[in-house]
Amino acid sequence: MSGKYTVILAAGQGTRMKSKLYKVLHRVCGRSMVDHVLTQVEKTHMDKVVTVVGHGAQRVEDELGDRTEYAYQEEQLGTGHAVLQAESILGDQDGMTMVVSGDTPLFRASTFEDLFEYHKEKGAAATILTADADDPFSYGRIVRNNVGVVSKIVEQKDATREEAAIHEINTGVYCFDNKKLFAALHQVKNNNAQGEYYLPDVIEIMKSQGEIVAAYEMKDFSESMGVNDRKALARATKIMQARINDAHMTNGVTLIDPDNTYIDVDVKIGSDTVVEPGVSISGNTEIGSDCVIGANSKIVSSKIGDRVHVTSSTIEESIMHDDSDIGPNSHLRPEAEIGEFVHIGNFCEIKKAKLGARTKVGHLTYVGNAVLGTDINVGCGVVFVNYDGINKHTSIIGNHAFIGSNSNIIAPVKLADDSYVAAGSTITDDLAQYDMGIARARQTTKPGYFKKLPVYEALKQEEADHSTK
Ligand code: UD1
Ligand code: MG
Repeated sequence: MSGKYTVILAAGQGTRMKSKLYKVLHRVCGRSMVDHVLTQVEKTHMDKVVTVVGHGAQRVEDELGDRTEYAYQEEQLGTGHAVLQAESILGDQDGMTMVVSGDTPLFRASTFEDLFEYHKEKGAAATILTADADDPFSYGRIVRNNVGVVSKIVEQKDATREEAAIHEINTGVYCFDNKKLFAALHQVKNNNAQGEYYLPDVIEIMKSQGEIVAAYEMKDFSESMGVNDRKALARATKIMQARINDAHMTNGVTLIDPDNTYIDVDVKIGSDTVVEPGVSISGNTEIGSDCVIGANSKIVSSKIGDRVHVTSSTIEESIMHDDSDIGPNSHLRPEAEIGEFVHIGNFCEIKKAKLGARTKVGHLTYVGNAVLGTDINVGCGVVFVNYDGINKHTSIIGNHAFIGSNSNIIAPVKLADDSYVAAGSTITDDLAQYDMGIARARQTTKPGYFKKLPVYEALKQEEADHSTK
């Protein structure tokens, strides 16, 4: 049976990235470059996908799991040598094999499908996907003979002046007859400027054997961008971001300033939601309809319902249900779950806590390790004291409780439904329904005592000095 296969090259060290991180694992809008490539390959329905990995193999396997098979390239001796490592998996198969690099994150599945179609149409042994580059520097150049037929690919470092002037480049994606590919790879030599076994050399080898070699020129060069350094990584991110943002706008999301809005590829946003400038939405975040995500907010892997307002706040791995609001300048840390119509105001931090519907946490409050019921009012400057230095403890607050300002709720503690904490209290004991807890020192008043304090004279003097100026 004749099948469809892909080899993804991902063993290169990526020295030009100057990074501890393996090159193809650098992220573009929330996914590693090699994951982007594999995702598009998957959409093209392959019988087998083999990813060639090198010294960072384990980390690539951790990233891609069993979505692909793996071949190992111990030493990075070049792209031709890399493909050859897949021979034990693919060598005896009949069919077509696409080779693609793990550092080209912008390719679309439709381009791969077009390439396969063209390759079949031409009855070719090899078809190169090429593009017209304004600046072809660093790419392999497509050399055609005087009647326009492809004769070979020349790498930047091996190119003559005339060859370097060619703008048609090798995108690094090819479609081959599988068996002819592996046969030709055994004949590739490394007598070139980099001393490497170049995959593109199979083109000249096949030509010399009288095989048909075709080139399919894609329209959009930007899609083929190979990322070899940080500058290209930033450019690829810009292009991917523009695509993602365009898709959201097409789906009815308002982006006030799409050039300044950073949304990861797996994020979902409902229609009529407005996203203001400087917002970053990452991971697998889902946002509902009719929300407002205010300027400079940051949302990481969270679920936001409908009609939620977020004002300049940070939300991480948390849930906000419909009609709730937060901010400005508040922070949901992992495992916060905010109920419907809950209001969280300024300078609040909520961590591993559940807030029932309509509860209000208006100002300057920390809620950690707590379960709050519905319709609770938490005053200003309340601290849920959850940590004794060794263990975290949980506070449980019933429905309709009232917690006065500047109180400490020392966990573990349980305040029943309809219980009341007087302002300024440090609560250590449970309260039953309708109880009021008041836990603060009684006030002592010393009549006239202020006049005996030196600060009184100092203040009077300050006022006098000011009025004579
Ligand atoms: C390669 C092509 C060039 C093309 C360009 C498109 C070669 C010799 N040159 O150049 O014609 O224009 O891509 O982006 O193929 N890799 C391995 N093992 C190795 C070497 C590389 O797995 O021993 C992998 C890398 O991880 C990378 C891919 O192969 O994903 C391409 O290697 P890279 O070094 O980026 O080649 P380029 O210089 O970009
Ligand atoms: Mg490259």
